[in-house]
Amino acid sequence: MVVGSGGREHALVETLAASHIAPEMFAAPGNPGISRIAQTVDIPADDLIALRDFAKENSIDLTVVGPEVPLIGGIAECFWEEDLRIFGPSRAAARIEGSKVFAKELMKHAGVPTADFEAFDREGAALAYLRTRRDYPVVVKADGIAAGKGVIIARSREEAEDAVREVFSGKFGAAGERVLIEECLEGREASVFVMTDGVNILPFLPAQDYKRIGDGDEGPNTGGMGAYSPLMWMEPATYAAILEEIIRPTLHQMRLIGAPYSGLLYAGVMVTETGPKALEFNCRFGDPETQVILPRLESDLLELMLAVNDENLYGREVEWLAEKAVCVVLASEGYPETSHSGDEIGGLENIPVGVYIYHAATDERDGKFYTDGGRVLNVVGTGPTVIEARARAYAAVEQIHFAGMQYRTDIALEAIELEDI
Ligand code: AMP
Ligand code: GLY
Repeated sequence: MVVGSGGREHALVETLAASHIAPEMFAAPGNPGISRIAQTVDIPADDLIALRDFAKENSIDLTVVGPEVPLIGGIAECFWEEDLRIFGPSRAAARIEGSKVFAKELMKHAGVPTADFEAFDREGAALAYLRTRRDYPVVVKADGIAAGKGVIIARSREEAEDAVREVFSGKFGAAGERVLIEECLEGREASVFVMTDGVNILPFLPAQDYKRIGDGDEGPNTGGMGAYSPLMWMEPATYAAILEEIIRPTLHQMRLIGAPYSGLLYAGVMVTETGPKALEFNCRFGDPETQVILPRLESDLLELMLAVNDENLYGREVEWLAEKAVCVVLASEGYPETSHSGDEIGGLENIPVGVYIYHAATDERDGKFYTDGGRVLNVVGTGPTVIEARARAYAAVEQIHFAGMQYRTDIALEAIELEDI
């Protein structure tokens, strides 16, 4: 059973269903795309008890959690109490995403390279600190999860003060009880995933995410408007440094504090002039990065997840196809400030070979699909080169239409320039 309802979960369901184990698949709550390959169950992703009861009553052999909220809420412990298998970290380990202050303290103790920071639990103390600080920009962050809206890059002291006041204004709820003020790093950003049983790691290939709504990284932040993988700009030595200097010491420190991490660990990394530095950790697969990573996976994902559960990753390797993948997100009118539901989606028939369509926020009525939220569809093109993968993705995008459809036209453009063909 896969928990969640977005494009990431659609990709997870599709990849798990293709396992040679030939599992019977469920998804809670799933979406209209997922319903083609799994039995969807009408339980929200944050109803931990109902999910556990369903898993128990239906003898679910493995539950895979997509979003962070249930993990941070303790879904893993909830399942373990009933001896049910679940892929995802404990509540204690999920704090690595649930509290940015916790993650930064952990990195400090583990010696992981990251931006310098100060943490405050009172507005007055944070403002006093800003008065002593000379160099701007700084990054101001709410401690908890705020759906990507809790990070503000402040170019001046005034902007930083406004950001601190905003965090403490109550608008982020409990996520805004503490604030982090960080050095602003410059460089290229990458999303790095590893699967881990707490000790051994299986590195997945890195991906690039596009967070801003507009071409050329203009406009407000979103949940992600596109992605591609692999990253030809990342040197193998840089990737090795990320594993050795960021991932391994972090997992070691988690064991030391009695919160061993198992599942998928996602590190957001800035590759700076002085080497890679960790920006943040997430306790789950990235969205939309997963949609460009899983179509390239040759190994059996279900087998790997079962091995994590049996703490048996030692000596395993992940095999990848030589394919490249590019994902373009189709968003509804008004996104990211608002979103528009109920617009009919056309052009989903006759999707060419090498293209995957993942549903992220759709509704199905009488055999027709409609928009049902901000990020509606993920269109993934694959091919032997980024040029081909990208051309396939955008050709499919041209074929799909709904009122107010927005998308970026520059996804993976930089990768083409770097491609060695
Ligand atoms: P986060 O939610 O921590 O991933 O932050 C969202 C985005 O803000 C990141 O993907 C980065 O683009 C940016 N960001 C976060 N922290 C920093 C930092 N210390 N320096 C520069 N950019 C940052
Ligand atoms: N793509 C960013 C995230 O999943 O958090």
